[in-house]
Formats: sequence, structure tokens, C-alpha cells
Amino acid sequence: MIPSRRFANVWLKEEGANPTGTFKARGLALAVSMARHYGLTKLAAPSAGNAGGALAAYAAAAGIEAHIFMPKDVPMANQVECWAYGAHLTLVDGLISDCGRMVAERKAAEGWFDISTLKEPFRVEGKKTMGYELVEQLGWEYPDAVFYPTGGGVGLIGMWKAFEEMEQLGWVTGKRPRMYALQASGCAPVERAFEEGKDVSEFFQGAATFASGLRVPKPYGDNIILEIVRASGGKVVASEDAAILASILDWAKEEGIFLSPEGAAATAAYDTLLASGEIKRGERVVLFNTGAGLKYVDMTAEAMHLRRPGSLPTSLPVGGIITPA
Ligand SMILES: Cc1ncc(COP(=O)(O)O)c(C=O)c1O
Repeated sequence: MIPSRRFANVWLKEEGANPTGTFKARGLALAVSMARHYGLTKLAAPSAGNAGGALAAYAAAAGIEAHIFMPKDVPMANQVECWAYGAHLTLVDGLISDCGRMVAERKAAEGWFDISTLKEPFRVEGKKTMGYELVEQLGWEYPDAVFYPTGGGVGLIGMWKAFEEMEQLGWVTGKRPRMYALQASGCAPVERAFEEGKDVSEFFQGAATFASGLRVPKPYGDNIILEIVRASGGKVVASEDAAILASILDWAKEEGIFLSPEGAAATAAYDTLLASGEIKRGERVVLFNTGAGLKYVDMTAEAMHLRRPGSLPTSLPVGGIITPA
């Protein structure tokens, strides 16, 4: 965890240094290892992008087939990593919900094991390590609040499980942190349900945000996310893309950290809740940067209205770009 340079008692839990550049590696490292342990040979999953990249990498390392379905407008890095790792990638003209439907329709005939979020136990087990780490890194004490960018919510669910386990082991005592689930206003089904006092979310129509990992219009575990947030005394907060981009630039300039758009949904919400008085200055807060900003240069450049001055040749002659043939 990296202490903030500006806010006392605020730490950024930096997940960008994981293999494949995001916290998704935690869940898929374990899920793919266990799939191999059980002798599975063909795995399939819908993905908002980063889970697909992590699945492709671990499947390649394990010698297992990966069949990945992603929206066609995911960050370029997610497509490139899937192709490079040799996964079978289908780019879908739709959202992760459409990708999930395709996996469900085809898995029986194709002999795929469905390794989707919360449909097998080990992705949660892998992601719960974030809960162990943050408590360990705070000297076996809970912080006051945890800010977690929430799409499918697996990290949040995993951390809550970790807290339960650590309490049973006698490793930590005291009040659990308030859990803040952060979404983007362009896709905020859980925030809407939270505000309306509902136990489950409704499908969020027209989901659109450059925080692509948060573009989950109807999380499978929405009821569990809502239950945890309410039990902890936290909130679900959504930020506009403009505020997310502003927070990326703010943290880059002021802290020297290039956040992913999802991570910036956490930092933007922190600013909002600090300003409203919901969070007090000096409270011990952990903000999750769930991925490396560098995985999103195309999306962030677009959000900043930046364009490359020239375009690369569509095919590279022998000798490459430096010494064209
Ligand atoms: C960088 C990043 N952050 C957050 C999320 C949301 O994760 P979860 O499904 O655990 O809520 C994703 C999901 O794709 C992601 O890629």
C-alpha cells in the first residue's frame, strides 16, 4: 500500500503490479490452478476486459484452452493480451451481459467449464487475499473505510469473507471497515438499488463509461454486495466519467501515480465524500487502484481528446519501423 502524499492516514492499495496489470490475476491464478487440479481442459468466461487477459495468461501457463467473450470496445490491451496468450477470443457487439449469455448458451455443447464470476468458488478465494493483505499491512488492524471500485463485486465479497476468517482465527478484532462500493454514473445499477433501498439491482440500460471494468449492467452477486455495504455502514457512490478523468490527472500530477479509470472511481468518490463530511479528514482509509493506468492508454487518451499525430503503417515491412525496407 502506498501512503497518500496529501491525505494523512489514506493509503492507495496498488493492484497494478499484479501479473497482467490488475487485481483480476488474484482470482484467476487460483481458479485456473484449481481447474487444472480437477483436470478441466476448456474454460470459458465473459469478461469486461481484464479478467479475460488474466484468464488467457494463466490458461496459457497451465496448458488449458481459454474461450473468452468480451465487448468489442474493451481497451486494446485486453484484446492484444488475449490474442498474444493464444486464447480463443470472441469480440461481441454488446455488453458483458450479452457475453455471459453466449457462454451459457454454448458451454454444454462445447464442453466448456464456465469460470464466470461467482459461478465457481475460487475466484473469490483468490481475491480475498486483498482483505488479508490490507489488514496485515496496517499492523493487523482494520482501517475505518475501504473504497472498492465495483463491477461484479467479487473483490468486495472476497474481502468481507477474509475479515470473517481473520476474526475467527483471532488475527484481527474491532469494528470492520465501512465498505464503499464505487461505480461510474454511466453504469450504476448497484448505486441505484442502494439509493432506492432495494435488495437487488435492475438491469442498467445503455451502460456506458470509460471505466470499462465497471460496465456490468446487472451484477450476478448484487444482493451480496448490497448486504455487505449496508451491514458495514458504508455506501454505494457513482461518479461521472469527467470526475473520474479529473481524478486520474490529479493523482498523476500530485501523487505520481497513474490510476486506472476504475481506481479513479474510488479516488473521485473519496473527494466527494470528504467534501460532504461523510468521511472525516484523518480517518484511516484504503483506496483500491484495481489496475495499472497503462492498460488504458487508448481509453484515457480518448477521454482526454488526445490523438496520435501520425498513424503507424498497417503492416510492418521487414526491418520494422526504424529501418523500413
Ligand atoms: C480494473 C478493474 N477494476 C474493478 C473491476 C470490478 O471488479 P469486480 O468484478 O470485482 O467488482 C474490474 C472488472 O473488470 C476491473 O477490471
